[in-house]
Amino acid sequence: MEILTTVNDLREAIRARRSYFKRIGFVPTMGYLHAGHEALMRKAKEECDLVVVSIFVNPTQFGPAEDLEKYPRDLRRDSDLCERAGVDAIFHPEARDMYPIGSSTWVDVEGLTDIACGASRPGHFRGVCTVCTKLFNIVRPDRAYFGEKDFQQLMVIKRMARDLFMPLAIVGVPTVREPDGLAMSSRNSYLSLRERQAARIVPKTLQLARERVEGGEHNSATIITAIEELVAAQPLVKLQYAVIVDPDTMTSMRTLTHEARLLVAIYVGNTRLIDNCALVPKAVAPPA
Ligand code: PAJ
Repeated sequence: MEILTTVNDLREAIRARRSYFKRIGFVPTMGYLHAGHEALMRKAKEECDLVVVSIFVNPTQFGPAEDLEKYPRDLRRDSDLCERAGVDAIFHPEARDMYPIGSSTWVDVEGLTDIACGASRPGHFRGVCTVCTKLFNIVRPDRAYFGEKDFQQLMVIKRMARDLFMPLAIVGVPTVREPDGLAMSSRNSYLSLRERQAARIVPKTLQLARERVEGGEHNSATIITAIEELVAAQPLVKLQYAVIVDPDTMTSMRTLTHEARLLVAIYVGNTRLIDNCALVPKAVAPPA
């Protein structure tokens, strides 16, 4: 496995192999890798002949008051995990290489980014879309892998690739969870022991919503209120948002007429965690 740190070195390494390896798979990450990232790599390995992983804490997707500086980093550990997962090359660039002085081009996906993380983190998806476009242009993969853990990100990237005729397939991979249901995240490392216990409320909100829908509830507001009450009753945690959206348009759904997506963001202490799940309403009996 090679670790390449400049755009030119990575391009050269891939250029030399492109004719032998039919299908190139790409997994963009910000590092501090865990089993969730590993699932993306293994899926890429299954479907592709050459797998490239990028590890880059992208400054443009962090807001001014966010955790860019303290975002966890451990390249040694990350490269061991990549090696075990059968990755062929890691791309680990510097910010000045990805954003050379004078860079002034941005990629913005409208509409889908008006809600949830798009609303609570202004500029976040512009940073994500811009860095992914740059990375796609450098690696030129046939397939790129994204986790459902960041469901809105997956939908936004799919839309961007479609709208801009990017010549690659965007593949979604299901969320990998800890045994107690908490979605794996690099940010879980911020949690104290007490906060880690309290974080179990995040998957519980999803479970509560699924149970309500299973019980026949079709009204989004009723489900959201139940989530608000559940979170409000717990110490250490604060709900940032809970929304039920149409997965294709990312617009709020008042009534569950078809499959919807619940998206939540919850602060546990100072750590912001996100999660989501599908909500599949029980079929309404057709009129007799
Ligand atoms: P990062 O948070 O490192 O995540 C990299 C990829 O791993 C994303 O596609 C994310 O959805 C996926 N992932 C994270 N946790 C997961 C889990 N528990 N199960 C399944 N997949 C999981 O997302 C980013 O980085 C950045 O925004 C990036 C796309 C790299 C652009 O900078």
